[in-house]
Amino acid sequence: MPAQVSSERILFTRGVPAVEALPNKLLSECFQAVLEGPEAKTVLQYGHNSGYLPLRQLLGEQYGVAPEQIVVGNGSLHLQDLLSALLIKAGDVVFVEQPSYDRAIKTFRRRGAKVIGIPLEQDGVNIAALEQALARQVPAFMYIVPDFQNPAGVTTSLEKRQALVDLAERYKFWLLEDIPYRTLRYSGNSLPMLRELNANRVLTVSSYSKLISPALRVGYLIGPVEIAKKLASLEEETILAPVLPTEAAVVEFHKRGYFEQNLNNLKQLYAPRLQALIAALKTHLPDVPFAEPEGGFFVSITLPKEAVKGNLLERARQTGLILTDGRDFFADPFSDDEEPDLGTRFVRLPFCALTPEQINEGVKRLAALVR
Ligand SMILES: Cc1ncc(COP(=O)(O)O)c(C=O)c1O
Repeated sequence: MPAQVSSERILFTRGVPAVEALPNKLLSECFQAVLEGPEAKTVLQYGHNSGYLPLRQLLGEQYGVAPEQIVVGNGSLHLQDLLSALLIKAGDVVFVEQPSYDRAIKTFRRRGAKVIGIPLEQDGVNIAALEQALARQVPAFMYIVPDFQNPAGVTTSLEKRQALVDLAERYKFWLLEDIPYRTLRYSGNSLPMLRELNANRVLTVSSYSKLISPALRVGYLIGPVEIAKKLASLEEETILAPVLPTEAAVVEFHKRGYFEQNLNNLKQLYAPRLQALIAALKTHLPDVPFAEPEGGFFVSITLPKEAVKGNLLERARQTGLILTDGRDFFADPFSDDEEPDLGTRFVRLPFCALTPEQINEGVKRLAALVR
């Protein structure tokens, strides 16, 4: 192992793409083509608030839906926020997987919902717990990251996907499936999207943040036309007009065949990093179970109770290991039986922006703290 690794700071914090994977040259060509092409004046003018039509057409073909069912926004979190403003009423609850994406939990709360976490197992949410929670109150929607979940790395099994859409149909609530990592699959085969199992109960959100660049801020939502129209109006009232130059650059990126090329590069870079993390966990923390993902950005572990002494984050920081506070990924528990402060021993390990050497060193330092 290179000597400098053992003393450097290792950031297991944000799930960001590796800087070396950001396709600046390819994007530069695309922006230039857009700004010098026949659509240049159109994309520099105020546009229609559902987003750039050629991008909605391209996505429509990809997902087998009409462009009218798609709203493009400034990243998927922006669309989740607008959707929350539309769907959440006073007194509503929103269900999430427990743990779940921290910013989604914050967004739903800020829009007035009580956010309730349904325990996440290695193959998706605990369906019996979800049924118990539904018997008490039906949510405005349930937020699910079915593929390579942030933060746990879990992929929901086909059986649980079917159970989720069946329950959504029976109790009449929306499933909001968030799939930004779905195409970053390094091995194995994809399972159907929730929308493929029941499009009437599913809203799908995704983005180019992890597939091209997060700074482009291009995300999209797919749903029924009525919801898409309402969201587009809300978008207009909020940001007036879409950022057409970036949306057009994404279309150009596809047209030139760069999307597939870039996706392959990302997979080649990230797959060995995931393998390095799995190997490091098995070597340095052999007794700690975890869901082994076949793609995405994250693996997570829940440390044994007796292993976590004092303030884990602070003790890790003193060794140059920077961790995210696990409590941020936890919503309100669905039952009083859930261990309070489970998040204090939950550790998310984003691996894409670290080298295999850094990953191994980071896990080694973590293991030394909990021995
Ligand atoms: C599950 C999930 N949803 C949404 C987002 C936000 O994506 P965007 O950059 O498209 O707003 C992230 C970013 O990390 C994420 O992990």
